[in-house]
Amino acid sequence: MQLLLDTADLNAIKEIISIYPIDGLTTNPSILAASKWDLKDTFEQFRQLGRHLSLHLQTTARTAENIVEQGRALTDNFGDGFHLKIPICEEGIKAIPMAKAAGIKVTATAVFTPLQALAAAKAGADYVAPYVNRLDNICANGVAEVGNITVILRNYGYETKVLGASFKNVQQLYDLSLAGCHAVTVTPALVKAMIYHPYTDKSIELFDHDWQERFGDSHITDYL
Ligand code: G3P
Repeated sequence: MQLLLDTADLNAIKEIISIYPIDGLTTNPSILAASKWDLKDTFEQFRQLGRHLSLHLQTTARTAENIVEQGRALTDNFGDGFHLKIPICEEGIKAIPMAKAAGIKVTATAVFTPLQALAAAKAGADYVAPYVNRLDNICANGVAEVGNITVILRNYGYETKVLGASFKNVQQLYDLSLAGCHAVTVTPALVKAMIYHPYTDKSIELFDHDWQERFGDSHITDYL
C-alpha cells in the first residue's frame, strides 16, 4: 500500500519523511488556505521533495480547458512525480482525457460514490481519491464504499489506483488495507498513530531494563 502525506505543514513533512516510508504528498485548496506557510516557499519545498515523491496538487480552475492549462503549467514546474487533482464534476470528467492526452498525470478527487470512481477510471484517471471519513460522517460507510470501488476497478481491469483520503483514525486505514486499497493519504498525526502501541513501548522498556541489569551500559556490538 502506498502511503502519502496529506498536509502542507513543511516542518511536519520534513519530520515524517525522515522517519517513515512515505511515497508522496497531497494537498487540497482547504489545506493550502489553512497553512501558515508562504505558498511560494511551500511550492519550493514541494519542488525539491517532488524529485523523490509523487506530488498531488488540486486544480483551482473550473472549466476543462483551464484545468488542463493549469495541469500543463504545474507539471512543467513540479516535474515527473506531479499529479493534477481534478474534482469529479462534469468539467472534471471532461478534463481527464484531455489532461492525459497532454501527458498530465491525474488524480480524480472528491470522490464519494463507486460510480464516480468508475467514470473517472473510464476517463483515464491514474488515481481516484474517495473521502472515507466524510462518508462516515454522513453514515455512508466510507470503508465499504472504497472496498466496492476497488472491486469494480478490478472487475473491469482498470489500472486506475484507489487513493483513500480523509481519515480520522487508524481503524479506517486498517480496514482499507484489508479491502485492497492501493494507496492512502493521511495526516502526520495518523502516520505516527499507525505504529503506536503501548505494549510495544513497554516491551522496549523491558528489553532495556533486562539488558542493563546484566550488561550495564555496554552494547551488543561490544561483545563481538
Ligand atoms: O484530500 C482530501 C482530504 O484531505 C480530505 O480530508 O479530513 O478534510 O475530510 P478531510
